[in-house]
Amino acid sequence: MLSESPIGIYDSGVGGLSVLRAIRDALPRESLLYVADSAHVPYGEKTREYVARRAAALADYFVSRQAKAMVVACNTATAAAIAQLRQRHPGLAIIGVEPAIKPAAHLTHSGVVGVFATTGTLASPKFAALVQREAPEVRILFRPCPEWVSLVERGVLRGPEADAAVRAPVAELREAGADVLVLGCTHFPFLRDAIQAAAGPGVPLLETGAPVARRLRHQLQERGLLRAGAPGSLRLETSGGAEALGMQASLLLGQALAAHTMDERWR
Ligand code: DGL
Repeated sequence: MLSESPIGIYDSGVGGLSVLRAIRDALPRESLLYVADSAHVPYGEKTREYVARRAAALADYFVSRQAKAMVVACNTATAAAIAQLRQRHPGLAIIGVEPAIKPAAHLTHSGVVGVFATTGTLASPKFAALVQREAPEVRILFRPCPEWVSLVERGVLRGPEADAAVRAPVAELREAGADVLVLGCTHFPFLRDAIQAAAGPGVPLLETGAPVARRLRHQLQERGLLRAGAPGSLRLETSGGAEALGMQASLLLGQALAAHTMDERWR
């Protein structure tokens, strides 16, 4: 493994680009290989076994591409598979994402925190353990929002349709007393403006891109794998349609990007 090797980042679809954005800001010299597992999106409503099988396939793919680290930029896949991935590839730096329960517990004044995530994340033992460990005194309210994932996949980030989709879930948790909201799915930061408008201006919306980027930097540093020199490259791949991913990513990242379909073996 070399410092020149890419960092593999994946999600069920385009949500992980919210994490990629933070990684690019923090580590501009790194070369990034982003995989959207679009042929299998959404993960949130699938079984844990299904999501774990895809995680194993994608980890094997990143290893075959000589990746020096892997970021599971998906809360659902982290909850389903992170421990198993670390067993499968003990030599690889593997970083997952988890809903920002700990900072939310520190920020809340009302003692009530609202969490938006997928059904898979909210039902996982890993999420229950996180809440128990980091926020035993706080009342945690959950709301699965699979429809928000599909909005972001369709590129509907603002406007009447986005506003209508976020209004009721946000109102439900706010009316039940939540004064901090956790965006526990990597798709949701792309709906930040609509969610903020529904929640009110002072309500913190917590996401995990920046802390994940810091953890990644730390792990690379420890292993002597940080890349120096010219700005790194970005390659986008998908198990689904390349043209669609190119369009989605261009919209979400605000720059013209092309994408490629992965070899059939990994799809
Ligand atoms: N972006 C993913 C997450 O963070 C999964 C969304 C989905 O595929 O349901 O949980």
